[in-house]
Amino acid sequence: MAQETGNYIPYIHDRDYNRPYLDKRLDRSTMICDSGREKESLNGWWRFGVDQYDTCLRARWYEERAADPSGRAIPLDYSFDSWEQIAVPSCWNLHAERLFWYEGSVVYTRTFRYVSRGEKRVFLRFGGVGSEAKVFLNRRYLGKHRGGSTPFFVEVTAELEADNRLLVVANNSRRSDAVPCENTDWFNYGGIHRDVELIRLPESFIRSFGIALVPGSAFARIRVDVEVEGRSEGSAELSILELGLRAPILIREGRGSAVIEAAPELWSPERPRLYEAILRYRDDEVRDRVGFREIAAEGQQLRLNGEPLFLKGICTHEESVANGRSLTEEEIVANLTLAKELGCNYLRLAHYPHSERVARLSDELGLLLWEEVPVYWAIDFDNPDTYANAENQLAELIERDRNRASVILWSVGNENADTDSRFRFMSSLARKAKELDPTRLVTAACLIDHAELRIADRLVEHLDVIGVNEYYGWYEPDFAKLGRIFENSTPTKPVIVSEFGADARPGFHGTVDDLGSEECQLAIYRKQLSTLGSIPSVRGMSPWILYDFRSPRRLHETQNYYNIKGLLSADKGHRKLAFDALREFYRSR
Ligand code: GCU
Repeated sequence: MAQETGNYIPYIHDRDYNRPYLDKRLDRSTMICDSGREKESLNGWWRFGVDQYDTCLRARWYEERAADPSGRAIPLDYSFDSWEQIAVPSCWNLHAERLFWYEGSVVYTRTFRYVSRGEKRVFLRFGGVGSEAKVFLNRRYLGKHRGGSTPFFVEVTAELEADNRLLVVANNSRRSDAVPCENTDWFNYGGIHRDVELIRLPESFIRSFGIALVPGSAFARIRVDVEVEGRSEGSAELSILELGLRAPILIREGRGSAVIEAAPELWSPERPRLYEAILRYRDDEVRDRVGFREIAAEGQQLRLNGEPLFLKGICTHEESVANGRSLTEEEIVANLTLAKELGCNYLRLAHYPHSERVARLSDELGLLLWEEVPVYWAIDFDNPDTYANAENQLAELIERDRNRASVILWSVGNENADTDSRFRFMSSLARKAKELDPTRLVTAACLIDHAELRIADRLVEHLDVIGVNEYYGWYEPDFAKLGRIFENSTPTKPVIVSEFGADARPGFHGTVDDLGSEECQLAIYRKQLSTLGSIPSVRGMSPWILYDFRSPRRLHETQNYYNIKGLLSADKGHRKLAFDALREFYRSR
């Protein structure tokens, strides 16, 4: 750091102003189990300031020093409580026209009152802040979270006062060393785009709770894993009244697990049976509605609860025209209902973790899910800190959704070139996913080797299920090659065609040769479906994509900054011809 000379002024001369905020990582290790807990919402109208030059961090506005040591008032460049208001949760891009394309820091702040009710520990939970958050409470820096799509927790026990000021610097700047990197095919939203909540806990509480069928146990044994904080010795108790189950779980050194004989009715998309599981430890209790099912890959076959499974899916981004990333519960239910109407039993949630509500609602409605971390395209695979970021987002996603029956696949990325550094990076991610969660399958959306016309991605050896993106008929004109790829490939694992599709401007009609017409998209779907439907190793598909979505890469007059490969228009008001073709195909399976 530059020597502080006589005329050195930190907030204008310190080029390394971010240094104080690099530690206090809020990550997988600071998560707590929040399922079924009482939470106090801090959503609502917050004040905000567009801080393009990061002056809040440079000049430490959050310290709220309004007077010099002699008590004389000093000039301020901020006035938190007279700033404009913005809704939390929301994306600032849709809050005001002037912010639509804004990328950088925005300072969010609100006050709240707190009176203890005898709790011993207090945490704040952020459902998602795009894409990096620094959190301050009562003038102190509490920590930083990277990744716009996974939840994080901040302990505030020591900092809380009767009157509190919470301040969050959200930054959505794209960076080549981040996850995702600076180049994607989706819109770069920013903001506190999921819920903010306060959670009160006793001295000893449950930090982590996992429950699932033991794979290969003939659906007759349930494993429970518990981590606690506070008193590290004792006994927890799991109860599932509808199974007549009440089992002790010995806790030693803060951890415990148990395998319990049980014969639950199995969960499936057709019969999404859920049970209320209650876990108690000393004065603490968490609840979760869980489904028991087993997903397995045997040779080229996928099996759900021992039965052969074909995944009839569709891809979706997490977006709506009105709310960007901050989908309402109604919008999520509408999307899932559309997928069911399309005849889907499965959804690929591209290309980053969607709201936890999607998995909870899919548990209830009966849909299987592919969930993915945004290791997308040209990630900085040689950068150890980039790997740590990716692995942490994967670990946070797995911890968040570990009790969701609907989630069957963890995807470690999408369309990455098969280089040595990418192989090291993503095979490590795949191993980490298996280590953290042996009850689910690991996959990735890989690319075809178009020169050799086969599935040749080395990452396949570390995957349970091979995802393949191919666009024959659209980016690749020669459709005849699609069948040859599978003739040339001898996959020993199940293959899911994780993407195929074509543009279609809603309502634009023409010949099958008119690129961008609904007839052209329909013809490509028909050829794809007739080809893929006859290939035994293809055990599922998720065409790209349910509805059109914003993308800064799409500037053709028919696109107007939208990727228009949807089966519906972006506002879902218009169904394109290919929607019915896919629905007929799924009904025929
Ligand atoms: C790619 C990518 C998508 C992208 C799509 C397209 O395969 O995975 O994120 O939007 O193709 O080109 O439309």
